[in-house]
Amino acid sequence: MLNDKVAIITGAAAGIGEATALFFAELGAKVVVLDRDGVGARHVAARIGDAAMAVEADMRDRTRLAAAVEATLERFSRIDILINNAGVYPRMPFLELTEEQWSDMQDVNLAGTFRMSQLVAAHMVKQKTGKIVNISSVTFFLGARLLSHYVAAKGGVIGLTRVMAKELGDYNIHVNCITPGAVQTASEKFFVTEEQSREFLTMQSLRRRLQPVDIARVCAFLAGPLSDGMTGQTVNVDGGWALY
Ligand SMILES: NC(=O)c1ccc[n+]([C@@H]2O[C@H](COP(=O)([O-])OP(=O)(O)OC[C@H]3O[C@@H](n4cnc5c(N)ncnc54)[C@H](O)[C@@H]3O)[C@@H](O)[C@H]2O)c1
Repeated sequence: MLNDKVAIITGAAAGIGEATALFFAELGAKVVVLDRDGVGARHVAARIGDAAMAVEADMRDRTRLAAAVEATLERFSRIDILINNAGVYPRMPFLELTEEQWSDMQDVNLAGTFRMSQLVAAHMVKQKTGKIVNISSVTFFLGARLLSHYVAAKGGVIGLTRVMAKELGDYNIHVNCITPGAVQTASEKFFVTEEQSREFLTMQSLRRRLQPVDIARVCAFLAGPLSDGMTGQTVNVDGGWALY
């Protein structure tokens, strides 16, 4: 479905990004595995082989992101797909949140999406085609304790998606967004207890935990031709938690 498409996936050394990189490669895409964790990115790229390239870059560093875009063009000549997935979600009570923690959250989760999209869209505009998928979170709809800085940033990602879709539609660039629910990633065990994991199930309609590949599949839909009539949309992939 993504044969010979060139996709940059941010935050692809782990979790949802890793699953998306592996799934896109299965579908025939050439994949740029971008992450601040260079070792992890190289590990994922090595599992894919020649169709992948690892790039170490931090979403807060525009110069490194610009270099990543250039390296992609040098290696694969074009960029068809951008998945803005990199994100962090450290918990902090609203009353204790510092200016620094607030700013860092916006810098990675919201400004990182803006930066990377702007750099990649400059090339997509010339190609007159492209698909951008932004990863937000169902917490924007539900609210979530201890995540005021995160939920605000993820709401910003939905707003950014809508305006990018309006402006970039002139160039046949599609911009859509996914709001994942509680996804069972490898890193989850560091902040979710087994009891909390069971609680997620009681919130959902479906009686199984969501896996990273569940999000990867919807990324593939939004990055491929089956969604050619869609732009500016937010697709909720949460096992039937928030029913809007
Ligand atoms: N896991 C969930 O339940 C869930 C739910 C809703 C939304 N999301 C969103 O999905 C995305 C992926 O989450 P995940 O659970 O797979 O996370 P994860 O922690 O498993 O993986 C995130 C990856 O992003 C990378 N990363 C973090 N900050 C970075 C930066 N500044 N620059 C470059 N790379 C950076 C990390 O190194 C890591 O490889 C995030 O945007 C997250 O907010 C996750």
